[in-house]
Amino acid sequence: MTQRATTGATDEDEILRVFQSKAETKAFYDKISHVYDLLSEHNEGPVRRTGLEKLDAQRGEKVLEIGFGTGHSLVSLAQSVGPTGKVYGLDLSERMLDVSRDNLHKAGLAERVELICGDAVQLPYPPDSLDAIFMSFTLELFDTPEIPKVLAECQRVLRPGGRIAVVGVSKEGESGVTLHAFEWSHRHFPNLVDCRPIFVRQSLEAAGFRIESTERQMMWVPVEVVLGFKADDKSTQ
Ligand SMILES: C[S@@+](CC[C@H](N)C(=O)[O-])C[C@H]1O[C@@H](n2cnc3c(N)ncnc32)[C@H](O)[C@@H]1O
Repeated sequence: MTQRATTGATDEDEILRVFQSKAETKAFYDKISHVYDLLSEHNEGPVRRTGLEKLDAQRGEKVLEIGFGTGHSLVSLAQSVGPTGKVYGLDLSERMLDVSRDNLHKAGLAERVELICGDAVQLPYPPDSLDAIFMSFTLELFDTPEIPKVLAECQRVLRPGGRIAVVGVSKEGESGVTLHAFEWSHRHFPNLVDCRPIFVRQSLEAAGFRIESTERQMMWVPVEVVLGFKADDKSTQ
């Protein structure tokens, strides 16, 4: 199933486009890197932790986080994979990378984590090389045609049977007043409200992931927490 897109009036079945350039996105996250936690941690932290629990990173694994922000999940993933594992992080914002690196140093975990600044539409990792991928509040920042590209890249770099957990603001189900207000704000103030609700589970399914579980949680907007698997070589998928 593909996601239809619109720039006009809100339709229950359609997701909005992204109205700002990558340069603007990068500049925005560079600018807010030192206050990001103040703005968002209270709301996003608990839901993000549900996503990390679902991913359930194990000792010795190689795990990638796309759009790591200030690095909370990098710290948690580095603890989970232990000294024999490796965590990779990719983010568009250099300033976010600096903040994350500081936080990893403070936690004494910097050596387990390799950070790269880049755009996740092209992942700089070899095919079949990772056990798991984590993404929270980031997939909804990609414009509609890019979402399948990012997820195809995730398919490419995950090993057969590898898993992906995605936490994202959701357009699934009943669209209440708050969701409409959120979409209205995204259309009218795209540089302030840079993300918009998307169909998380549908996107992962369309990219060929087998969905293991979907949990819907309420922040001030609905959020989907989805766990999917790349087909195993032995699978008939
Ligand atoms: C809303 S923040 C979420 C941060 C973190 N995942 C969390 O849950 O706290 C989105 C992050 O994705 C990064 N980002 C935005 N566009 C990106 C892209 N095209 N490729 C990689 N990272 C991107 C931003 O720089 C920012 O750090």
